[in-house]
Amino acid sequence: MKEITREEAEKRIKWLRDEIRRHNYLYYVLNKPEISDEEYDKLMDELRELEEKFPELITPDSPTQRIGAEPSKEFRSIKHLKPMLSLDTARNEEEVRAFHKRIVKELGVANVDYVAEPKLDGLSVEVIYENGKYVLGSTRGDGIEGEDVTENIKTIRSVPLVLRSDEIKIPKKIAVRGEVIMHIKDFEEFNKELIERGEEPLANPRNAAAGSLRRLDPRETAERPLDIFFYEIMHYEGDDLKIETHWEALSILKKLGLKINPLVRKCESIDEAIEYHNEMEKKREKLEYEIDGVVIKVNKMEYQEKLGSKTRSPRWAIAYKFPPRKEETEIVDIVVGVGRTGILTPVALLKPVDVKGVTVSRATLHNEDYVRQNDIRKGDWVRVARAGDVIPEVVEVIKEKRTGKEEEFSMPDKCPVCGSHVIKEGAYYRCTAGLSCPAQLKRSIEHFASKNAMDIEGLGGKTVDLLVENELIKGISDIYKLKKEDLLSLPRFAEKSAENLINAIEKSKKKGLARLIYALGIPNVGEHTARLLAKKFGSLDKLMKATETDLMAIREIGPETARSIVNFFKEKKNLEEIEELKKFGIEMEYERKKGKLEGKVFVFTGALKNFTREEAKEIVEAEGGTASNTVSRNVDYVVVGEKPGGKYAKAKELGIKIINEDEFIKMLGMKE
Ligand code: IVH
Repeated sequence: MKEITREEAEKRIKWLRDEIRRHNYLYYVLNKPEISDEEYDKLMDELRELEEKFPELITPDSPTQRIGAEPSKEFRSIKHLKPMLSLDTARNEEEVRAFHKRIVKELGVANVDYVAEPKLDGLSVEVIYENGKYVLGSTRGDGIEGEDVTENIKTIRSVPLVLRSDEIKIPKKIAVRGEVIMHIKDFEEFNKELIERGEEPLANPRNAAAGSLRRLDPRETAERPLDIFFYEIMHYEGDDLKIETHWEALSILKKLGLKINPLVRKCESIDEAIEYHNEMEKKREKLEYEIDGVVIKVNKMEYQEKLGSKTRSPRWAIAYKFPPRKEETEIVDIVVGVGRTGILTPVALLKPVDVKGVTVSRATLHNEDYVRQNDIRKGDWVRVARAGDVIPEVVEVIKEKRTGKEEEFSMPDKCPVCGSHVIKEGAYYRCTAGLSCPAQLKRSIEHFASKNAMDIEGLGGKTVDLLVENELIKGISDIYKLKKEDLLSLPRFAEKSAENLINAIEKSKKKGLARLIYALGIPNVGEHTARLLAKKFGSLDKLMKATETDLMAIREIGPETARSIVNFFKEKKNLEEIEELKKFGIEMEYERKKGKLEGKVFVFTGALKNFTREEAKEIVEAEGGTASNTVSRNVDYVVVGEKPGGKYAKAKELGIKIINEDEFIKMLGMKE
């Protein structure tokens, strides 16, 4: 970055913060992102850099300040502005109709309209903004008092630190309620990491969200992929705004930049609300997060007030729950699987059972302790539950059905796949053979080739199994030794499919450093961390030389991750594989994404509508271009605002491309 005065930095910082907030809003609230992750990262990087240069310009509401608070010893207790109520539940249509009947009777009206929303299975929180700034976040606790988790909630990227004011006047104070959740995919990923680290996996996304939010060190919360949906305005202090319906409240939340659930629906009758429940029950399977029912709320605030509340729940809302996804079946056998990192996992093989539309025939038993604590035996009758796409789980043993023939389970002392020695690490057993164990090799190759890693289409589980079993692959780098003829010798391949796979392998060589780091399968290094490492170190060689201290200097990397990275690059076998990969020409350098105006020279003349001259120049530079003051033959574009001066004439004379401000904005891909 070229030298920049404090004044220029101040302007640029303001522009960057507004721009980042706008993109957050587009991404999280409207679900219509305009830029890629890389472009977003670039804005953040520039902001960080400027703030590092001018630390006095840092404000707590800057997008860079989400993470960084010191760990606390315990959470302060916080009294909520108003009690955070719970909900009465209905388990069937009849109970919902009874709820409606009571309401129309009490109100003395013929009909009421409702708002129906997904009932999110997460953790309820209160968030307070004063004059548009995020000031407090707390858990529900017992409804009256919760815990002050301000710094933790602040790390959730979908929680704005500043409210939007372009459509609505910012209230003096507003307290809103929402649900913190973890997406199913993130939960599964997170559980996998826990297992790799030798820690206990968590039972469901809700527990994972709750545990993540309540970390005493907010930096740990920041590492967890949490999300939020807001669904209530609990308190509002501001002039001239009368909220007449809940539907309006939701729209206000959205206008303020607070993410609401896109599936909320206005229902004109209780029939519509019931129909909504049935629709959502079907849709549930396809959602990225867990819902356990729908919430039906009386829409009119006047009615809500008339109906009032009981001690723990409002009389104007009801949770219409879905039936539990649990079924009974028998454990036919307990086998032991070996994962990518060598961890042995007991798996129950079940007599196939239909759990709400999905046939379940296996359930993870996590580890030996889980089997012991729940006293799960081969031959037992059990209840299995399925939560979204989450791996089915044995939730309880039906002991009354025991016949005495059930067999207790114990972990094998040798790897069931390769027979190597097994060691115990905490609650887990691990095969010590590394990549010479076929199971570990197979799963490592599969991971290396997976979509978010090197993205080798056609190299999925079954093909990998074949290649390993036929000894065509003995290590990761062997993927690049494969020839079409090798593939044609296997049952799954024909001319075309073999060719496609060879092409996909070739293409994977240029996927970039971040994907390669992720693909290597370093314990604790997920996609996000891999991207951070690629950006920070720029090449695999540099990363391989990094010490734990170097790694921990990166804000989002903790001691555990640092240690596992250093250990990974100490392993002789890993170093040999990397050396081989190098020989095949796999890209190992980080290529900075080029700006949109890379290499282009701009001159501005006349008054601009959307930026000051200085801002326009900074944008050009941030996008890799140069801004010049004088028109010469080196200039690519002259941007003409209102009342242009002599530069315009000069540009015409030299035949330089002349564009207006709108065209300039278009080049940037910004829509104003
Ligand atoms: S409204 C007075 N709306 O369900 C309003 N709650 O079983 C009370 N929940 O503690 C809450 N999704 O954590 C409401 N769309 C939604 C919700 C929702 C999930 C949770 C909330 C509450 C629990 C009650």
